[in-house]
Amino acid sequence: MARYPFPAFPNGWFELAFSDELAAGDVRSLEAFGKRLVLYRTEGGEARVFDAHCPHLGADLGVGGKVEGDSIRCPFHGWRFGEGGRCVEVPYAKRIPPAARLRPWTVREHSGLVMVWHHAEGKEPDHEVPPIAEHGDVAWTPYERRHWRIRTHNHEMGENQVDRAHFRFVHGTLEVPECEAQPEGPVFRVYQRSKMATPRGEVIGKIDITAYGYGVSLVRFSGIVDTLLVACVTPVDGEHVDVNFAFSVKKLANEAATSGVGKALIADIEKQMREDTPIWENKVYHERPMLCDGDGPIAQYRRWARQFYSVPLEPAGTAKETA
Ligand code: FES
Ligand SMILES: [Fe+2]
Repeated sequence: MARYPFPAFPNGWFELAFSDELAAGDVRSLEAFGKRLVLYRTEGGEARVFDAHCPHLGADLGVGGKVEGDSIRCPFHGWRFGEGGRCVEVPYAKRIPPAARLRPWTVREHSGLVMVWHHAEGKEPDHEVPPIAEHGDVAWTPYERRHWRIRTHNHEMGENQVDRAHFRFVHGTLEVPECEAQPEGPVFRVYQRSKMATPRGEVIGKIDITAYGYGVSLVRFSGIVDTLLVACVTPVDGEHVDVNFAFSVKKLANEAATSGVGKALIADIEKQMREDTPIWENKVYHERPMLCDGDGPIAQYRRWARQFYSVPLEPAGTAKETA
């Protein structure tokens, strides 16, 4: 039986790589959305993504494929594929089979992220992830990255952000944080506030989350030091997700202090991931959870998330929440 009552591969924008991991001419083999994909950067600098298996005899272009100009050459018999995945050369044939093509994916690259659009019915993008203002700003440190592969669904990780009670019981915060949600089309904003004890006394720690669909969220921490977490979650194989986090800290007066703050925040998020992971990997998903009045906007998150599913589900609002 399926573990979740919604599709393993929801619609939306999902990150496949960080820009600086992919130099011109690089080829990478990836697994995402239950498929093998090939990601490469043309010599001119454009990131392209295709289904990885060659239409000829099925070789994986991500394993031994070579970039030539703006095209990629298959390692098996040398067919070459260019813009839109069209075959532009069969080195030993007079005629190129007209239907020879790698299936192309719609790619966007900005703010240091290479993202693809996934839609189960093949529909075109109906929204965009806007540029991230902090990226490339000299007042902010370059991304520092962390990666995990976890046996869960994007939904569970998103729901975690509005599950206010778990912060105290899983992550050991002093109190259950205040949590307000604001869904707006494909964007879900969460405002968390919690009291934090610091050497300078009590401070209100703020966490503002802006989720663009299920795949890319910007988490902004403020109160003590301003930090940005670009949180990317991409479905792998129907059972696991790839979690790629990138952190950037607003620079303080001296470099040592900035790096200390960055390290402390990253260590804390790594601790939270270690704490959340056994829950996510072993929990079940209740369609009708027994919620209580202190639980936070979980039902609201679930209603918002339905827009990313292609198959019809039960009518909205079946998760009961006591106001
Ligand atoms: S399998 Fe790719 S060229 Fe033959
Ligand atoms: Fe958590």
